[in-house]
Amino acid sequence: MAVKVHGGTSLVNRELKGSEKEEAVSNAASLNSLEISKWTISDLELIGIGGFSPLTGFMGQEDYERVVNEMRLKDGTIWSIPITLPVSEEQADQYEVGEEIALVGEDGITYGTLLIKEKYSYDKEHEAAKVYGTTEDAHPGVNNVYKKGNIYLGGPITLLNRPDHGEFEDFYLDPSETRQLFADLGWKTVVGFQTRNPVHRAHEYIQKSALEAVDGLLLNPLVGETKSDDIPADVRMESYQTILKHYYPEDRVRLVIYPAAMRYAGPRESILHATVRKNYGCTHFIVGRDHAGVGDYYGTYEAQELISTVEDELGISIFKFEHAFFCQVCGNMATAKTCPHDKEQHVHLSGTKVRGLLRNGERPPKEFSRPEVADVLIKGMKQK
Ligand code: ADX
Repeated sequence: MAVKVHGGTSLVNRELKGSEKEEAVSNAASLNSLEISKWTISDLELIGIGGFSPLTGFMGQEDYERVVNEMRLKDGTIWSIPITLPVSEEQADQYEVGEEIALVGEDGITYGTLLIKEKYSYDKEHEAAKVYGTTEDAHPGVNNVYKKGNIYLGGPITLLNRPDHGEFEDFYLDPSETRQLFADLGWKTVVGFQTRNPVHRAHEYIQKSALEAVDGLLLNPLVGETKSDDIPADVRMESYQTILKHYYPEDRVRLVIYPAAMRYAGPRESILHATVRKNYGCTHFIVGRDHAGVGDYYGTYEAQELISTVEDELGISIFKFEHAFFCQVCGNMATAKTCPHDKEQHVHLSGTKVRGLLRNGERPPKEFSRPEVADVLIKGMKQK
């Protein structure tokens, strides 16, 4: 039986194609237009292709407030992060409620249209505190909230052009396509893996531990906007392809991009990540240590604790993994659940230390990173 779509019976499809699209694009030329950011384009795409099912547009005030305060849409469906279209007050004044506007990228492409049902103001500090758990603007997600326009436009969208995913196009599938792919492969159970980092041995360990229990693995790296000190998506994509080639059985894994922006909302974002992977057709999802975290804002297992409170309702099973490391006495990867030895025996390297080694052209120990992957990262660091 196919995996349920979140909050509904079929994937949302807000995209026009063929002659309908041509007509809508030419009509859009006579509409008032709004220039939208890369972030909004990626939200628009994910709504349009059904990744964000059951959302059919940018949230109105009732959905927004319930999501912020209670992690639910107004109809009660679990939803953890607001999906909104921010504009400045001056911009908002240019449009009427009831008007359809064209959503245009800075490249001049009309990505879609929005039927404005609502314009509303919101409390940024409240959104920050509830969604990100902090009001500090040093948090990249909160910083982004503070920089946004003061008004949200809500209403249903139509997707007219998907953004170009450039060199990642070969790894792009929409949720209806991944669902079909899993059916074709005969995978009844599929674990989804979210990542925004190059793959290291701990990732490999938890992916493969999960894979022992299911039919297939969807390696689903986020390639939308990330903070500037994260490793760029092209380098990461090369690292994933390299490790798959050398260390994974070809018939058990598929690499598909997740074209979303990173929020760094830790626990709340783990729920969004799982929800979207359910829409892509996964039956299982991995939440490890400090999922979608940044700095010291979240406890190591806070994401696991929060997602546990909604797991049954969410309808996707969560594989929760403790912090994984290589133990020199065990001679393998382990966690505190499976290894009795002292911390001194565990290979641990901070992100800063690893970046330093790579920048100097040195491979981190093979217990931390596969040598083939380290070489890709060294090359990537040199080029940037
Ligand atoms: S994330 O922001 O996308 O979550 P990252 O790419 O580092 O960041 O992590 C991907 C997944 O692997 C997350 O579920 C995270 O919790 C998990 N993870 C990362 N490192 C470890 C580790 N050492 N032990 C256990 N889980 C880990």
